Amino acid sequence: MKFFVDTANLDQIREANALGILDGVTTNPSLMAKEGIKGTENILKHYVEICNIVDGPVSAEVFSTDFDGMIREANVLTALHPNIVIKVPMIKDGIKAIRYLTDKGIATNCTLVFSAGQAILAAKAGATYVSPFIGRIDDSGVDGLQLIDQIVNIYNIHGFETQVLAASIRNTLHIIRCAELGADVVTSPLSSILGLLYHPLTDLGIAKFVEDAKKMV
Ligand code: G3P
Repeated sequence: MKFFVDTANLDQIREANALGILDGVTTNPSLMAKEGIKGTENILKHYVEICNIVDGPVSAEVFSTDFDGMIREANVLTALHPNIVIKVPMIKDGIKAIRYLTDKGIATNCTLVFSAGQAILAAKAGATYVSPFIGRIDDSGVDGLQLIDQIVNIYNIHGFETQVLAASIRNTLHIIRCAELGADVVTSPLSSILGLLYHPLTDLGIAKFVEDAKKMV
């Protein structure tokens, strides 16, 4: 399972990359706005900076919701760096845009996916990645992980090549369950990835080893 970090924060991307376990980055307009990035030039520059940190796919989301606008933006974003993946919302024009970009050999990430039906459409359109938002589904009172299970199963039955990219990860357990369910990728805040490190018995064990090591010098 690949690990992407879901942030536009350069320090966090550097920290995740320095661990040696980072496979890519996803961003969205909310994450970019959170970093205070304003204006087309700065937005494009920021994507290039991300691409220069991590050697893997970097999802850059289009802001337009109409086909022509999405393709116009996609052409500009694609020219920035070979690792850019065009993130397109799950709407009718988005599906058309994914088919168009796929036919041009451009990688896409179909975002804002909340149902198996939407995931089937994304795969039919040839999306490279499909992004089910499991945390937001949990927030609505439904188990988001069930959707990962359902999509992985459907894609396996029909041999769809679209990769299941579990998004809207809220905690470390989400990552572990996605691994069990066969998600191809998780995109997660750095905090949830770092959460995988911790176990109290590891901390106790380290303290004891450090103490005993001192007896030998
Ligand atoms: O990048 C898309 C997704 O991961 C957003 O997550 O936390 O805003 O629901 P969140």
